[in-house]
Amino acid sequence: MIKKNLKYLLSLKKNNIVITSVTSYDASFAKLADECGVDIILVGDSLGEVIKGAKNTHSVTVDEICYHTNNVSKGIKQAYLISDMPKNSFSTKRQALANAIKITKKGLADMIKIESTPKQLEIVKHLIKNKIKVCGHIGIQPQKISNKKLYRKIGTTARETETLVRDALMLQDSGVKLIVAECIDSGCAEKIRNILKIPLIGIGSGKKCDGQIRVIYDIFNISFNGRPGFMKDQNSHKNPLKDFLMSYLKSMKNNTN
Ligand code: KIV
Repeated sequence: MIKKNLKYLLSLKKNNIVITSVTSYDASFAKLADECGVDIILVGDSLGEVIKGAKNTHSVTVDEICYHTNNVSKGIKQAYLISDMPKNSFSTKRQALANAIKITKKGLADMIKIESTPKQLEIVKHLIKNKIKVCGHIGIQPQKISNKKLYRKIGTTARETETLVRDALMLQDSGVKLIVAECIDSGCAEKIRNILKIPLIGIGSGKKCDGQIRVIYDIFNISFNGRPGFMKDQNSHKNPLKDFLMSYLKSMKNNTN
């Protein structure tokens, strides 16, 4: 089986084929997603919420990302593997590079994702100069917000749209090869996608991005803190894993399993 690479992901954008992406944190879920043909697996710092049961992503460490990335890498045969640079892991060029090398060499990630600000562009460029493949993250950046209730759609005004377009272009010009857009107004996301040469992967940003990314536990509706607002309408009453486990436990009780 051929491992997907950036050239392949770019060809999907060029051919208007949606890039699919989910998070994973362990070998078994990674294997499941990989066998289903997902294009990208992200070891997101959402692991702070769904694995550690915290309110936000802020407590996640580089060592935790490395540990989960390495486990996930064992379950992958074909998907492209991206891992988050956690909060406070890229404050200086030197620190960012040391941590990115750790995540790619020890964790075996193909690329790192960074919630950088425009002021941190030099750090992004430093990583790229040192052969680290980088994914940007625009819109809502969970590392900067401690309470999820403060999440809101960004890019609903002309001014915000202008800023987001500028930020996305600056990332692209720095050599970033993918960008995640979180909680961006769908019209604004479509505009950015049309301007960018690199793929824009959306979450809560409408259907007009080049790809979509979801936290895998949100898809199964088992996330510790519940589903994000934009997924609330999608079969919110359904919980397939819970239904399966309930019936399995019942058969155990009845000694039929
Ligand atoms: O940490 C994460 O899972 C993410 C996705 C929500 C894009 O950054």
